[in-house]
Amino acid sequence: MSQSGEYSRREFVKTSATAAAALSAISLGLPSRAHAAGLDRVRVGLIGCGGRGTGAATDCLQADDGVEIVALADAFQDRIDKCLDGVRQWCEKNNASFSQRMKATPDTTFVGYDGYRKLLALKDVDVVAIATPVCFHPVHLEAAIQAGKHAFVEKPAGVDPPGMRKVIAAGELARQKGLAIVAGTQRRHQARYLQNAHAVAQGAIGKIRAGRVWWCGGLRRTLKRAPGQGDAEYMTRNGNWYCFSQMSGDHIVEQHVHNLDVANWFIGRPPVQALGFGGRARRQGGNQYDFFSVDLDYGDDVIVHSMCRQVKGCYTQISEQFIGTEGSTWGDGKLVGKQVAVPEFEEKGGPYVQEHRDLIRSIREGKPLNEARSLAEATLVAIMGRISAYTGQIVRWADLTKNQKSPWYNLTMQPAALDFEQGKVVAPAENVIPLAGEA
Ligand SMILES: NC(=O)c1ccc[n+]([C@@H]2O[C@H](COP(=O)([O-])OP(=O)(O)OC[C@H]3O[C@@H](n4cnc5c(N)ncnc54)[C@H](O)[C@@H]3O)[C@@H](O)[C@H]2O)c1
Repeated sequence: MSQSGEYSRREFVKTSATAAAALSAISLGLPSRAHAAGLDRVRVGLIGCGGRGTGAATDCLQADDGVEIVALADAFQDRIDKCLDGVRQWCEKNNASFSQRMKATPDTTFVGYDGYRKLLALKDVDVVAIATPVCFHPVHLEAAIQAGKHAFVEKPAGVDPPGMRKVIAAGELARQKGLAIVAGTQRRHQARYLQNAHAVAQGAIGKIRAGRVWWCGGLRRTLKRAPGQGDAEYMTRNGNWYCFSQMSGDHIVEQHVHNLDVANWFIGRPPVQALGFGGRARRQGGNQYDFFSVDLDYGDDVIVHSMCRQVKGCYTQISEQFIGTEGSTWGDGKLVGKQVAVPEFEEKGGPYVQEHRDLIRSIREGKPLNEARSLAEATLVAIMGRISAYTGQIVRWADLTKNQKSPWYNLTMQPAALDFEQGKVVAPAENVIPLAGEA
């Protein structure tokens, strides 16, 4: 591994775009360092230090020798301790100096549901990585952009339509402030997907007419409650949040968002409406469905069938396939169609690392990536399918984005993010699920 200074000198570029970004930062009254090229040290604050947060920490350390983690926030101290152990082990395995890469101190480590606010108030944080449970993402991302930080935010964007509109607005604000937002929908940073997306955009399979997208796998989590544990802690500990649709969005949102994002990306737009169904017979605890099957109408006679299931012992499939007028392709697999020129796409260390490489490069070059809208739109497709399955009704894109008279436009899942900060969390009744036709 090279020394951090070497990398930064190599990467130090002064382009007119960079100068313009720095100037716009100054005119907006922002700290210009956060926007200027040649950001040699990239100081990262991590919000949500669980499984994926620890993964995101080591991914960004691997992505660039100039990265230092300077601040940590989590609801619980023991999760922070475990994250520190994980980073230490990564450093040992990768011959990196823990003390040089992990610079968080007790003064820059914050425990509690409001810890992210204290982390965001630190001047010496350039980028935040948000890996909290899904329901917190809109509030945490909005606060990060308002605080002038570049952001990496795990997928999905949130759990309900108002949350998605908040994420889109945060994306617009980031654009005005010259800040980057990269999402954890890592397929957009994965070479095989990028090659096929590029070929499709060049007309390699003609016009896409239909598609199928799947996330069919096993049961992800089972609930555990410690004696005396309050509702808020119960819902956030042990990955229990994965079992509550208020916190995860249900698995159509939490997992299947990846494949739905590929459909939007390859087709070039979100669907106009969804009609789906789903149900639950096997799962114990929480309030999610076992499976969803959703017909997505992309308009102009383009349809995509989406299916996702979390049931043990069944056929598993996680992929995407598209049929065009002149060929067909899998998301990251075989493409049959016309020969078109496709450039090489970089993917070093796998897509989880590449997404951080792309984020950091975009900041250094003064051309900040902004994936807020694509993340929010992919999440909104999943939310649209979930609402359709829960209610048994057709749900139109406009019902969630424009039509304020729609019963779902302001649908807000509760408990919501701020309820955790304000100590107002009441866990929903378990094993009680929405019944289509009655919900
Ligand atoms: N991109 C991927 O492939 C991928 C894979 C797994 C998970 N994820 C996503 O990553 C996110 C986190 O998932 P995970 O598996 O790490 O969950 P986790 O439960 O292991 O970690 C979440 C952490 O957030 C903390 N937390 C909860 N509420 C908080 C709050 N309000 N403020 C600060 N900290 C809080 C928890 O204590 C926990 O340590 C989710 O959005 C999930 O969908 C993405």
